[in-house]
Amino acid sequence: MPSMIITGAAHGLGKCIAEHAAQAGYKVGVLDLVLEQAQKVAEDIGGVALAADVNDPSSVEEAFAKFDETPDVLINNAGILRTGLLMEHSLEDFRRVIDINLSSVFIVAQIAARRMKEARRGCIINMSSVNGINPSTNCGAYATAKAGVLALTRQMSMEWGEFNIRVNSIAPGFIDAGMQAPFFENPQVRELRSNAVPLKRLGSAADVAECALFLASDKAAYISGENITVDGGVIHSVLMQLPRS
Ligand SMILES: NC(=O)c1ccc[n+]([C@@H]2O[C@H](COP(=O)([O-])OP(=O)(O)OC[C@H]3O[C@@H](n4cnc5c(N)ncnc54)[C@H](O)[C@@H]3O)[C@@H](O)[C@H]2O)c1
Repeated sequence: MPSMIITGAAHGLGKCIAEHAAQAGYKVGVLDLVLEQAQKVAEDIGGVALAADVNDPSSVEEAFAKFDETPDVLINNAGILRTGLLMEHSLEDFRRVIDINLSSVFIVAQIAARRMKEARRGCIINMSSVNGINPSTNCGAYATAKAGVLALTRQMSMEWGEFNIRVNSIAPGFIDAGMQAPFFENPQVRELRSNAVPLKRLGSAADVAECALFLASDKAAYISGENITVDGGVIHSVLMQLPRS
């Protein structure tokens, strides 16, 4: 049975990836901050609940030990958003977003990769964002952290390829789930954003989960150091937003 640890899997995109992975036959490690929240998801899908703070290496080590096997796949999905314009943003919020979205990817991936190196196989998928490619305003350090995830993914793929570890990232766009769901409750925002997407709809958590499962599978056996945007094409649409005359 293939196995997968997903961070931030008690809610939103991580929870959906956990459900899809369990359906696809993976033993799933549902890793999140609070054990009870991880347990709820783990019970539903027949997975293993793992409590850890992705920013705390010792708690992550304990979670991997509890999982009791080297996972075939790690999905670094945990993340937070602290909104704010840079002019007023606090250093504390800036650092927190870098810690949880970027430094955590280094912390958890390093712990996984040391085990995967021994096993001579592994796959790591890091969650970035379209914000890491095209920054928007009012998102503090988020775009910077997610751009860092893209760079770190490429560097990991360079250093760890020789151990048969593939490393890729996913950059979701306007997804109607998780941290962005409350934002899309406003009908005007929903309509404006949906219309800006070439596919004329918001994305779903399942759209992201299916991409993660593809990258995790042998169908992606020769893909490493790559980023896939799951955004209905919005990243390419900037010229479409401007009138021709
Ligand atoms: N929802 C979107 O539209 C969207 C778009 C682009 C990128 N993303 C990225 O996808 C990932 C998942 O986002 P989401 O929307 O599902 O968010 P979410 O807030 O619904 O879920 C994030 C999960 O991460 C967990 N988490 C937070 N800090 C943690 C920590 N220190 N240790 C362990 N777990 C922690 C939370 O408890 C939560 O369960 C994030 O990296 C986010 O930046 C989301």
